[in-house]
Amino acid sequence: MSIRQLESLSLNVEQKDQTCREKLVDLLSQDLDFHSQGSDYASHNFHSFPAKFPPQLPRKFIQSLTSLGDVVLDPMMGSGTTLLEAFLLGRYGVGFDIDPLALLLTKTKVTPLNARQVATVGKEIVGRVRLAINGRRSELEKGLAERWDSKTRSFVDYWFSYEIQIVLLALANEIEQIADKRIRAFFELIFSAIIITKSGGVSLAFDLAHTRPHRAKVVIDETGEIIIGSDLIDKPTRRIRLLTKKLRSPLEEFEKRILQNLKGLPQKEKDEQQPFLEGLFEPEPDRFVPCITVGNAQSLPLDNDSIDLIVTSPPYASNAIDYMRAHKFSLVWLGYPIDDLGEKRKEYIGGEAITGFAFEKLPERTTEIVADIACQDRKRGQVLRRYYSEMTRALREMFRVLKPGKAAIVVVGNSIMRGKDTETQACLSEIGQAIGFQVPKTGVRHLDRNRRMMPAGMKLDLDSQIQQRMHEEYVIGFYKPHT
Ligand SMILES: C[S@@+](CC[C@H](N)C(=O)[O-])C[C@H]1O[C@@H](n2cnc3c(N)ncnc32)[C@H](O)[C@@H]1O
Repeated sequence: MSIRQLESLSLNVEQKDQTCREKLVDLLSQDLDFHSQGSDYASHNFHSFPAKFPPQLPRKFIQSLTSLGDVVLDPMMGSGTTLLEAFLLGRYGVGFDIDPLALLLTKTKVTPLNARQVATVGKEIVGRVRLAINGRRSELEKGLAERWDSKTRSFVDYWFSYEIQIVLLALANEIEQIADKRIRAFFELIFSAIIITKSGGVSLAFDLAHTRPHRAKVVIDETGEIIIGSDLIDKPTRRIRLLTKKLRSPLEEFEKRILQNLKGLPQKEKDEQQPFLEGLFEPEPDRFVPCITVGNAQSLPLDNDSIDLIVTSPPYASNAIDYMRAHKFSLVWLGYPIDDLGEKRKEYIGGEAITGFAFEKLPERTTEIVADIACQDRKRGQVLRRYYSEMTRALREMFRVLKPGKAAIVVVGNSIMRGKDTETQACLSEIGQAIGFQVPKTGVRHLDRNRRMMPAGMKLDLDSQIQQRMHEEYVIGFYKPHT
């Protein structure tokens, strides 16, 4: 190849980079709030999940930056919003997470099933559970006594009333016996969805969708009997009123949820007869089956230069959302001992354990912010240093697997540590650039402050700076240039 040819090739590549960066800037300058657009289509609302992004966000970038059959990755997929949008748009989705509930949820959301067959299985489960509760109670009581190690048992006893435990065990027993593992997963997810909700579902907890769970102070069962806190009911303070819970029937919640999720289920094949549910969505037969596996974003089992687009949102710095804290409420019923879940929790990006942790060298501004927080509180500073080290590894992996000329869209929220802003978006941009990414623009998203749930007992304060920060997110556009 002549020098002139080489020069024109590199000019082309530079022009290509320039055009891609401009496209990214344009997309990131558009409305990223999506306040007026609902997220309750397809299977997006199969199960609650903290800090989901709106489906319109990955949709926008997938539609504009990829073509049919391209490979879209989310290395920290959570509830699988990116994976489902890739699936709906005919892209090949690849997703990883270390959280067992995230895996179950994402897989179920993109698995086409025959809705009639699933509905029949659901009816059979409910029928058999009714028979078991009424006719084989002593068997269920024995089953409860034998089901867990002592630590898991104490956890279950603290957070679930005994009568609810009986029904949940009967349900879990029936679900465990479903031979088809994809149908079983659909019902496991429904089982989990009746526990993990904003109101704590059928557990004794409040707010399993967002924050540290609080146990109800006064609990009234389905029959109207006060089963916890009868001494408090006569002198109700505001806090006690907020922490009073009326338990619902797990079986009725389960039935309701089946109907709800069936509507969002991807159908296995077109039902030639009259559809029996409004809104079933039927993916085209040639959709790509996504690849969804357990995996750590800091070490991805993927080839170099193999991905066309990444859309992801990492956990907050400082473990602001502790996923396992809520997820263990249903995972213990699905066979995970509480100690194993505790061990798993240590692998989450943003965790607090720093002993023996191998820190990365961080760039200048990030080091300053870490040092600033360490001055106030040494331990917090180290925790933040761990977070930025983990994110360095995750961004390095994203850079490695992305094809040149492609983008990684990373959505982050800020954290406040000891009253100081961790400046997550600035630090991640700086870390990304040190790795080789270009950052042509960072967009801002405003969360709907009136819709966002506050922790139990915490009021919405429109003047609070911390709450204001909690209502802003940044959408960082990382670009991997050709050279
Ligand atoms: C903010 S959530 C993702 C939410 C997602 N965008 C959605 O719409 O549902 C962050 C996810 O990162 C996952 N995560 C934490 N540490 C991880 C790691 N080391 N590797 C992979 N995923 C991890 C968490 O389990 C959680 O599901």
